[in-house]
Amino acid sequence: MKHSAIPLASDSAGGSGPAVAGELGLPEFRAIAAIMQSEARIHLVESKVVLVHSRLSRRLREHGLTRFSDYVALVREDATERAAMVVALTTNHTHFFREDHHFDHLRQTVLPQLQARARSGAPVRIWSAGCSSGEEVYTIAMCLAGEGQTSAAWLRQGDVKLLATDIAPHVVDSVARGFYSAATVEPIPSAYRSRWLRPEGDGHVVVDELRELVTARVLNLFDRWPMRQQYDVIFCRNVMIYFDDKAKTELEARFVDMLAPGGHLYIGHSERLMGPAAAAMEPVGQTIYVKTGGAGR
Ligand SMILES: C[S@@+](CC[C@H](N)C(=O)[O-])C[C@H]1O[C@@H](n2cnc3c(N)ncnc32)[C@H](O)[C@@H]1O
Repeated sequence: MKHSAIPLASDSAGGSGPAVAGELGLPEFRAIAAIMQSEARIHLVESKVVLVHSRLSRRLREHGLTRFSDYVALVREDATERAAMVVALTTNHTHFFREDHHFDHLRQTVLPQLQARARSGAPVRIWSAGCSSGEEVYTIAMCLAGEGQTSAAWLRQGDVKLLATDIAPHVVDSVARGFYSAATVEPIPSAYRSRWLRPEGDGHVVVDELRELVTARVLNLFDRWPMRQQYDVIFCRNVMIYFDDKAKTELEARFVDMLAPGGHLYIGHSERLMGPAAAAMEPVGQTIYVKTGGAGR
């Protein structure tokens, strides 16, 4: 695809230094795209040039650079800046109860299975992979906990853990804090909101009882996974859209391996399973799959 270089006047992202990012030419865009591919398997098509220019302008300014060629040289030799570039180019959009048909399914179909498992003394493990700032994992936690003390008793009595991971450290910090603005918590049904959030400053914080269920960690999904146990439920939604087919196929196969037989996988509305994962998983709802070879854990 042809495109003209992006002029500096189009960028208005923050930053305080006097330097202003110059144009982003095709060779520099391609160099950045290659680094994103090798670092995070994020696939940047050339139509994203304006977005990349806008998101990286602040990084250039922070280093007092005006030319993208100098920034590319910096990123090639400086691992810290490379990581910062990856984070700057991730999209962290999320919200509570996003694609809420997944949570209806979780409550109606999966929750009774998880409760039975926990009551039998078995561990229950749930993973929000590509969790962004935590709205997804806390939505899951609220669905597991229900609306009151009694409905949440099984969580206190059983060995139930939720893992939330993302490549971007700043969003992982947000999960650990569990603090959300008034506007952010609006999609949460009021019964959950009044039970599982408490007002703090100009926003709301998730109560300790739910936060303590959640472990938040920085993890690049294409690195080695440190978890030893298999998972009962994996949510990886609106993450794989940023990867190419080879990376998606590879990652989905790893999710299947990581799921216990009878475990459930939830993916985003525009995503689909491919390759070995498609063969190993049975669709049981809109973008909901169960790992065959086990009758519910
Ligand atoms: C659009 S958010 C989706 C958040 C949530 N799952 C949802 O559906 O609302 C995508 C997240 O995936 C993360 N991500 C992208 N590439 C990643 C990778 N290679 N490893 C881990 N996380 C990644 C981004 O940092 C971002 O927070």
